[in-house]
Amino acid sequence: MASPALRRYRRISAAAAALILPADADLGALDALFGRRAPRRLELGCGHGEFIAALAAAHPEEDCLGIELDPLRVNKAAHKCAAAGAQHVRLLAAAAEAVLPRLPPAAFHRIYALFPDPWPKRAHRRRRLLNRATLLALARLAVPGCRLIVSSDCHEYALQVLTNATTLPGLWRPLLPNGYALDLPVRFVTVFERHKRAEGARIMHVHLERSAVPLP
Ligand SMILES: C[S@@+](CC[C@H](N)C(=O)[O-])C[C@H]1O[C@@H](n2cnc3c(N)ncnc32)[C@H](O)[C@@H]1O
Repeated sequence: MASPALRRYRRISAAAAALILPADADLGALDALFGRRAPRRLELGCGHGEFIAALAAAHPEEDCLGIELDPLRVNKAAHKCAAAGAQHVRLLAAAAEAVLPRLPPAAFHRIYALFPDPWPKRAHRRRRLLNRATLLALARLAVPGCRLIVSSDCHEYALQVLTNATTLPGLWRPLLPNGYALDLPVRFVTVFERHKRAEGARIMHVHLERSAVPLP
């Protein structure tokens, strides 16, 4: 059940609603959906939208697509983006796994997955979003040189992402020494990062770069 704070986003302004794509949007036609052709960034699980709103405001010359499972969080994210004056954001309420195959190849030069749901119990780990199949799907969407930025307080998950990437030979190259770093300074702190830092958690960052190696 949605929290009272989220329930107030059941109703949003027309400006915010205009940033939300319908479920059946033609995602193969991103130029038409954004109304222009521009470099593009993708965020998976954009939550309450702090990050994508700040990112879009900092890069008005680029387009940002956010995918988020929870429709009320999408409404809240749209509200934040509209309030930030970011017209070049589109948001979709859907499971990322279902959306990624609908997007065109080589469409993004930055992809973010910040604090993906950790599913810490061993029996639930198969629900994790950043599995090998998702990393392969993201490799199709990434231009060569595209960076995939992953942050998590669940270090075991972040390291699993690194391991998954190495099982896709040559597609993703780790950028950080030893493959990861702890507590890097970040430009825009997300809601979850703020909460986790307040709890004293250390944040693990994994940065991967898409090579020019074609998909298998
Ligand atoms: C722990 S929260 C992090 C949100 C935000 N990135 C942040 O750091 O504040 C994880 C978010 O991912 C969303 N999510 C979970 N599974 C998803 C999926 N399969 N596709 C898209 N979003 C998903 C959740 O609804 C939630 O908003």
